[in-house]
Amino acid sequence: MKWMIASAPWVLAAAISGPALAADNPASMTDAVKTSVFGTLPDGREARLYRFSNAHGVEMAVTNYGGIIVSLRTPDSDGDVDDIVLGFDSLDGYLSRAYQTSNPYFGALIGRYGNRIAGGEFTLDGKTYTLAKNNGPNHLHGGNKGFNQVLWDAKPFSNDTGTGVILSYTSADGEEGYPGKMDVTVTYTLSDQDTLSVEYNATTTKATPVNLTQHSYFNLEGEGSGSILDHRLMINADAFTPVDKTLIPTGEIRPVKGTPFDFREATAIGKRINDDNTQLEYGPGYDHNFVLNRPDGSDGELVLAARVTEPDSGRILEIATTEPGIQFYSGNFLDGTLTGKSGRAYGRRNGFALESQHFPDSPNQKDFPSTILEPGDTYHTRTVYTFSAR
Ligand code: BGC
Repeated sequence: MKWMIASAPWVLAAAISGPALAADNPASMTDAVKTSVFGTLPDGREARLYRFSNAHGVEMAVTNYGGIIVSLRTPDSDGDVDDIVLGFDSLDGYLSRAYQTSNPYFGALIGRYGNRIAGGEFTLDGKTYTLAKNNGPNHLHGGNKGFNQVLWDAKPFSNDTGTGVILSYTSADGEEGYPGKMDVTVTYTLSDQDTLSVEYNATTTKATPVNLTQHSYFNLEGEGSGSILDHRLMINADAFTPVDKTLIPTGEIRPVKGTPFDFREATAIGKRINDDNTQLEYGPGYDHNFVLNRPDGSDGELVLAARVTEPDSGRILEIATTEPGIQFYSGNFLDGTLTGKSGRAYGRRNGFALESQHFPDSPNQKDFPSTILEPGDTYHTRTVYTFSAR
């Protein structure tokens, strides 16, 4: 059974001109979201699980611990539903690993700053701020206790845009070394058009870097089903930001043309991953930010960033974003030590992440688009995932 054909122009049209955003139009039928206890945190607070679905059998579960997408079930080209994101079936799975440096951030919201800040340091308005070096010499994904490890307030909703949950969190002034008290809201909306919209809003009391993203690892054949190297990937980017051996951008914007980073035509992820290439050696594999192609004047609007097709299941994932970049991470550091929901170990490159974002280390890179949020301004970004199969 063919249940939907991918159509990128539709994604963009509907997503841009779509109905009022969920956050503007809150709860009407909250019984569309089933709520249960997911587990208890070491400090005694309860994490909840929110489950909701759409008219075509797409089902998802989100916990307010870390804003983690715990499961995302979508039909394949025969109509068979599988969970396409890596993760654990209990809070303990996420907690027991949360404080290790090998924490893979399965499904989590990332903040305040997605990806790396060189040397765990940046200077803003003449003052130098020191952050945790939780990834070799660098700061990664918000530090020792990023937004992936905090308990968010959650409000389930259902309205004419879809069904989902509004998560909010107040990050204290100085938390993880960042300036300013920051109020953050992230809204997950699953629609009957088979889209998942993730909308981020934030305000601050002092200028601060902000770069929020979602860190789901996908395997479109179903989590636990092995390698993702056969997935075909298209990234709408003429350039990427090469890195040094600690994965900090050098500042160069390098054309992808003639390199293993050219995904402008859909190409199997594994086709060139072992090529003799210094950037792939540093990865090791793909772990790079791509500079998305964006028509002049479309800043802040959704553009198609990536499309991934899995040949056996026929599943297709499309990602559109208002962000200037996307991090393509080919799951290089998964090593078989974590066992996921289906009881199968997650080996190297058994999942991939495509994280919409501003470029890594922007606070230290004067030529990259700024990630500084000023008091009085509102941070607002949006990323839309569209699921289909053929
Ligand atoms: C980073 C990787 C990192 C992974 C999990 C990705 O966003 O780019 O280097 O290993 O997250 O932490």
